[in-house]
Amino acid sequence: MTSTSIAIPDQFQIKELVNQNTYLVGGALIPWRGKTSEVYSTISSTKDYKPTLLGTIPTLGKKEAINALDAAVSAYNKGQGLWPTMKVVDRIACMEKFVEQMKTKREEVVKLLMWEIGKNLPDSEKEFDRTVEYIYDTIEDYKQMDRDSAKFEKNSGVNAHIRRGPLGVVLCLGPYNYPLNETFALLIPALIMGNTVIFKPAKHGVLLISPLLEAFQNSFPKGAVNIIYGRGRAVAAPIMQTGKIDVLALIGNSKSANALQNQHPKSNRLRLVLGLEAKNPAIVLPDADLDLAIDECIAGATSFNGQRCTALKILYVHENIVEEFNKRFSEKVDALKFGNPWEDGAKLTPLPEPDKPLYIQKLIDDATENGAKVINTKGGETTENYIFPAVLYPVTKDMRVFQEEQFGPVIPIVPFSDIEEPLDDMAESNYGQQVSLFGKDVKTLAPLIDTLVNLVCRVNLNSSCQRGPDVYPFTGRKDSAVATLSVHDALRSFSIRTFVASKDNDYNNAILKDLMDSRASNFVSTDYIL
Ligand code: G3H
Repeated sequence: MTSTSIAIPDQFQIKELVNQNTYLVGGALIPWRGKTSEVYSTISSTKDYKPTLLGTIPTLGKKEAINALDAAVSAYNKGQGLWPTMKVVDRIACMEKFVEQMKTKREEVVKLLMWEIGKNLPDSEKEFDRTVEYIYDTIEDYKQMDRDSAKFEKNSGVNAHIRRGPLGVVLCLGPYNYPLNETFALLIPALIMGNTVIFKPAKHGVLLISPLLEAFQNSFPKGAVNIIYGRGRAVAAPIMQTGKIDVLALIGNSKSANALQNQHPKSNRLRLVLGLEAKNPAIVLPDADLDLAIDECIAGATSFNGQRCTALKILYVHENIVEEFNKRFSEKVDALKFGNPWEDGAKLTPLPEPDKPLYIQKLIDDATENGAKVINTKGGETTENYIFPAVLYPVTKDMRVFQEEQFGPVIPIVPFSDIEEPLDDMAESNYGQQVSLFGKDVKTLAPLIDTLVNLVCRVNLNSSCQRGPDVYPFTGRKDSAVATLSVHDALRSFSIRTFVASKDNDYNNAILKDLMDSRASNFVSTDYIL
């Protein structure tokens, strides 16, 4: 493998640095003249390898973080704020204003996605488009939710008007692998339900938020959304320590989630919406269609270099077919093209974390020292910003690559003779997100499906694991998630059922009628949103 060519198409060249010198708090883009941090891409712009400087972000500290928290708390204003009490139809109008402006920033955001996290062009475009679609779907779902609750019900002599209300102040942190999509999959439902939000972009994939700052500023009431920059330790921890956060919404690592949770002094107040690690296995049964299984395992294990929580991170292949599987699988891995994100057909692209190649190399070394072999020719070939996926076989439980979520380009294969072996491993695992099951005979598949659905939250039949389509529930057992995300479920996760009840008598009913006729309350309303 050679380093990627340096011919960068004109439209993707970095001609100007993105120097983010403001942050959004209380509706104002506050100028920052203090310390800044440089943002680099691991992609080189010169012939001799050198990381490319993309721009700078403010290095905010505790003072600015607490100011952002105060802005969110005061926008919530003990439930009296403009945003949490606003009519649903008006909150939707703000979100529509935002998404219309967001769409005009596609080119800039896609370009930064490629440079900041090395995601290839088609996938970067998909991330942007999928996010826009997610916002529209969220709006439609919220309308339906509102229509369904635009009514009274009566039980045992009590009238009730039940809706979903916001939880309060949300601290929102997203991951580097989907810095736009996954972050917005938290931020957008949190906001639209009437919560106020403090959002800190991921370490990698931070500048791509810059083109959207003005849209955030001019679409929502002041303080409804606050965007800050800096290290989690310096800004997120002090916010949590105040005990004023009602929801921690985080997609990323369980260590960071636990550390932040533990800072909060009132654990019952704190709701959690978390998407964490996974070690999704593929199980390839002896009667599987090998061509199909291999293609799906390649996509599952290597797309975005395995840096997806849903990636296939361990392959269990039945011993009767493992030799053939390994041969054909390794050839196909070696045929994958490595290149810069804008290069045609580049499936493998530079890794955004400078220390990732070394970490992956250590996993390979540990596995080979313990009896595995790298069975593909290019496996482990290294450049300054990449390490070619090594297919490791046979992998055993004592190896680090079996135990750790590699989140990068290395593919462990474990042979099995008895199906109880992968099932036992899954039951013992700390993770429980998804599985891919390859096979045909329903007599074998049926009992397996019945067991696997109790170990994970999605069984992908003859298909690789994935989050989408985003209308389906995305969650996990054990250390893999807390709460469920999907277009609909996210609206539920960021809200709580709350209602107005009154005894059914003439006195109360006259007041209820007056409330509805006068349209004086934004909550008590039977208006039907078209
Ligand atoms: O990092 C985890 C993502 O939720 C995976 O989403 O399956 O659409 O790549 P995806």
